[in-house]
Amino acid sequence: MASLTIRKLDEGVKTYLRLRSAKNRRSVEEEVRVILGELIEGREEPLTPFAVPSSAPIAQRSGALPEAGVTLIIGGGIAAYKSLDLIRRLKERRIEVRCVLTKAAQQFVTPLAVSALSHERVYSDLFDPQSEFDAGHIRLARECDLIVVAPATADLMAKMANGHADDLASAILLATNRKVLLAPAMNPLMWNNAATRRNVAQLQRDGMVLIGPNSGEMAEAGEAGVGRMSEAIEIATAAERLLRPPVPRPLAGKRVLITAGPTHEPIDPVRYIANRSSGKQGFAIAAAAQAAGAEVILVSGPVDLSDPPGVTVKHVESARQMLEQVQAALPADIAIFAAAVADWRVANEGVQKLKKTSAGMPPLQLVENPDILATISKLTDQRPPLVIGFAAETEHLIDNAKSKLARKGCDWIVANDVSPATGVMGGDRNTVHLISRKDNEIEVDSWPAMTKEQVAIELVAHVARSVTDKSLNDKAPEPAS
Ligand SMILES: Cc1cc2nc3c(=O)[nH]c(=O)nc-3n(C[C@H](O)[C@H](O)[C@H](O)COP(=O)(O)O)c2cc1C
Repeated sequence: MASLTIRKLDEGVKTYLRLRSAKNRRSVEEEVRVILGELIEGREEPLTPFAVPSSAPIAQRSGALPEAGVTLIIGGGIAAYKSLDLIRRLKERRIEVRCVLTKAAQQFVTPLAVSALSHERVYSDLFDPQSEFDAGHIRLARECDLIVVAPATADLMAKMANGHADDLASAILLATNRKVLLAPAMNPLMWNNAATRRNVAQLQRDGMVLIGPNSGEMAEAGEAGVGRMSEAIEIATAAERLLRPPVPRPLAGKRVLITAGPTHEPIDPVRYIANRSSGKQGFAIAAAAQAAGAEVILVSGPVDLSDPPGVTVKHVESARQMLEQVQAALPADIAIFAAAVADWRVANEGVQKLKKTSAGMPPLQLVENPDILATISKLTDQRPPLVIGFAAETEHLIDNAKSKLARKGCDWIVANDVSPATGVMGGDRNTVHLISRKDNEIEVDSWPAMTKEQVAIELVAHVARSVTDKSLNDKAPEPAS
């Protein structure tokens, strides 16, 4: 006969067994025996007598669940009816809602209506043996990403401001480590009362976020003023903003031109001169600039990478094609030349495949390729306001990079040591030095070894700061003469 080790069961099953056995005052083993007996007799109970707890926030519990979870505390005010609409508004934003009703709230909305809309059991009693068996108020306080109190009554806010915990709602609010959004609703005289003013100020000092109240007609005939609860849609939008804050997009509205990868310089139709650049650094910069809100044009030599999403990619082979595409992409606000462009190409490129002959090796004559960085840096009309070059060196890294900065006329140089021992060429990590000019001095900012993605994010952050500083300076008033 097989034996069953409870310890090895799935966490959810273990919790279910623990709760069910406690409810029925049996040991877990006895409970398993009873369940098996019921199954055999065909008297199976529903598998969830009450919610299976978990200590993780709702958003992390399962990929199949909505992205975020809110514990909605409904206080005892006339505006409680608006919370029914709020549940719907939150759910349409893929936010799971678990509701707590104060005793007073149940005078205004029924647990049945709230439960039907939220598709969840409704909680209201601090001393509920079922949910308090495993400290349900702590779970309700933590198994969510945000707590919303709507309506936040004067009474509930007074309790919060003073740390009371004598009912489920106030105990949850005292036990939570999540952000709390309050939507106050009350008569204007209650709102303006000195006690409420003190409590609101205290709650704001404690880090609570308030939405509303709005001003308008009150439920009480002939009364108007500040005290109406914000509309459900306003509260849902505020909740969503707290749950999913907008990602900063410091390069929004900027056009960034980036080159990446090696170039292939043909010897004949089947052979070429190349270098070991993988394009990973340039592609990572393109992705980071795109994530920062920029419109990105990436001119890439032959690489084995997929195009970064949201980036316009122009694929080229040779240095001359790269220059052509770079020029076609102007104007740009920022140009970052990360490609390892071949310095030379074959002057006498074979039209047909070169043949081995007894005359010996074919003489390959090299001529200089166009210098893309210098060409763009020295433009008069269409020079991007910020031009950044890369210096890949195998010796005298900083000195060579400093002289490159002066020679090419760009604004910054990102210098990296590409000696074979560093593994930078083709690798995933990079150690770079950002060389720039400040007040006629050359500044060297050496960064620690990072992944190429981290280098890209850091570089884009520097670019964003420089662009912001520049636009601030552009707006600065002329000094008085
Ligand atoms: C008809 C009626 C309407 C009420 N409306 C509000 C209200 O809008 N805002 C408020 O703060 N209190 C209101 N109250 C008072 C609260 O219901 C009362 O302070 C209660 O204790 C609040 O309990 P709670 O904070 O636990 O929900 C109202 C009371 C009644 C009888």
